[in-house]
Amino acid sequence: MASGGGAFAATVVAVAAAAAFVACSSVPRVVASDPSPLQDFCVADKLSAVLVNGFVCKNAKQVTANDFLFRGLNVAGNTMNPQGSNVTAVTVNELPGLNTLGISLVRIDFAPGGQNPPHTHPRATEVLTVVQGTLLVGFVASNQNQNQLLTKQLVEGDVFVFPIGLIHFQLNNGAVPAVAFAGLSSQNPGVITIANAVFGSNPPINDDILAKAFMIDNEQVDWIQAKFAAPPASSYGGFIGGGRGGGGGFPGLPPP
Ligand SMILES: *[C@@H]1O[C@H](CO)[C@@H](O)[C@H](O)[C@H]1NC(C)=O
Repeated sequence: MASGGGAFAATVVAVAAAAAFVACSSVPRVVASDPSPLQDFCVADKLSAVLVNGFVCKNAKQVTANDFLFRGLNVAGNTMNPQGSNVTAVTVNELPGLNTLGISLVRIDFAPGGQNPPHTHPRATEVLTVVQGTLLVGFVASNQNQNQLLTKQLVEGDVFVFPIGLIHFQLNNGAVPAVAFAGLSSQNPGVITIANAVFGSNPPINDDILAKAFMIDNEQVDWIQAKFAAPPASSYGGFIGGGRGGGGGFPGLPPP
């Protein structure tokens, strides 16, 4: 990034504050996407064999400051991939202290012309700020709102919010690399990359169904499906890696 360490720190604080606002704006008639904590903290115990909604708590007596620390978000992700973007996620999977707190953070790097393709987070609203470059962003409202497209050209310092569950995207339509940070209102937002989920499912969705849904021929379905290698089943569930890597799964990358 062009900005120095101070600017970076200020950015992260601003994003975290914005995300905390999203996570905490739970007036009685609003339901937060993640359950509220029932204790000060519940550091994820990844070694426990017990399955709960989230992760079992590590013994509070064994908790240290490192359980609440993630380092390295100042480092750009590698954007040399077909979509030209890279999401570096800091969810409960990377930062165990986030367990039960209903919040997470990502850094998104974009090459010039790179995009984070249309995707949705089943468990989180996302509030994004641009710290370098420019982004064309947007989301699509649901059927009851006639699939209205709400889109905006963002410049450095702009903040845009993508409501929970709605399909959204970001494109770097500038000539220089772009960098954004985003807070998400879940410890584990999840990601569904639309193209991969529809045309790259494992096993594939029946041709007749997709042909009718998209009003195209079966051959055209096969042609699109062939571009998507089926992602490994294990890659579903985390924020990144839903298919082929950052941004939620791109076609054409070798399996991890
Ligand atoms: C994102 O960047 C990381 C760090 O450079 C790299 O390991 C990873 O493979 C990249 N993902 C994609 C999809 O290019």
